[in-house]
Amino acid sequence: MYNCCMKEAQDVLTLLRAYLPSAALGAALELGLFWKLVEGPLPAEVLAREWNIPPRRCHIWLEMLVSLDLLEHQPEGYALSRRARREIVETYSQDAWETLALEARERYPAGEDLALHLGTPGSVWDAKGRRLLDYVDQMAAEPARARRFVRMWHEVREPLAEEVAQLLDLRGVERVMDLGGGSGVVSLALLRTSAGLSAVVVDIENVCAAGREIAGRTPLRDRIAYHPADILHDELPGGFDLVIECKVGVYEQGLFQRVARALNDGGRFVLVDELTPEGQAPPIDHLRYAFHNSLR
Ligand SMILES: C[S@@+](CC[C@H](N)C(=O)[O-])C[C@H]1O[C@@H](n2cnc3c(N)ncnc32)[C@H](O)[C@@H]1O
Repeated sequence: MYNCCMKEAQDVLTLLRAYLPSAALGAALELGLFWKLVEGPLPAEVLAREWNIPPRRCHIWLEMLVSLDLLEHQPEGYALSRRARREIVETYSQDAWETLALEARERYPAGEDLALHLGTPGSVWDAKGRRLLDYVDQMAAEPARARRFVRMWHEVREPLAEEVAQLLDLRGVERVMDLGGGSGVVSLALLRTSAGLSAVVVDIENVCAAGREIAGRTPLRDRIAYHPADILHDELPGGFDLVIECKVGVYEQGLFQRVARALNDGGRFVLVDELTPEGQAPPIDHLRYAFHNSLR
């Protein structure tokens, strides 16, 4: 993804310095700048006052977003660009974008002083005296955060869930287990396509609680249950015709053995993920995730 834009030395330099435009975008998403401009343009002074930003800094921040083609100049002040309206405001909710930006910001420190810490045998976070909680621990410790992340994933994953539901042959399937199912977005899509089906979503306890809330607002609520468990360690419920694991990224032998025990005779295990064809480079998102984990 990045290599396509690197044709000259200047492009390499631009990427090298991309952390600041990235942070400027993250701040805009977390502060809600784009949604402030939905009704129309506003002058820089008004925006500076809104978030108590020193006027000169605010002006340069806004110009940075103009250079990214996310804002544009209009006589009344700064306005949303067509790109920002289409790709940001009309794609996900403000809450989902805010959560995505929060996650990116919290991961930033992994990159600080990387040249000095890349050789650290253990965690670079520990070496820098910083702390990044393990995902499962964090979700367990903070129900409000779990709820926020579950809602964001639900929204972001809806198109994929629909696609999976259209692709899967569910003939003869009565019970499905949705491993690491989060909000249950995939299960809900499957339930919509197949009237005789019921689903059990297995995920961390606080995630299940947040998922139950979402499913509870749908007419499918009586056909979906949430089973709190750590899929890396806990035994799984049994008696399923289909187990689906959609973009969870937890692949290990012990889990697959427990999945096999959870399946009825002739049952199927379906993994949904972007897997790299042999000999090809992995998608950049996978590499970024793997690199991040290797620094923990
Ligand atoms: C990226 S989300 C995907 C959720 C859902 N499958 C979807 O496609 O939207 C990954 C999910 O895996 C769950 N997960 C990750 N590690 C887990 C673990 N050890 N035990 C249970 N759930 C886990 C997370 O809580 C999260 O809901």
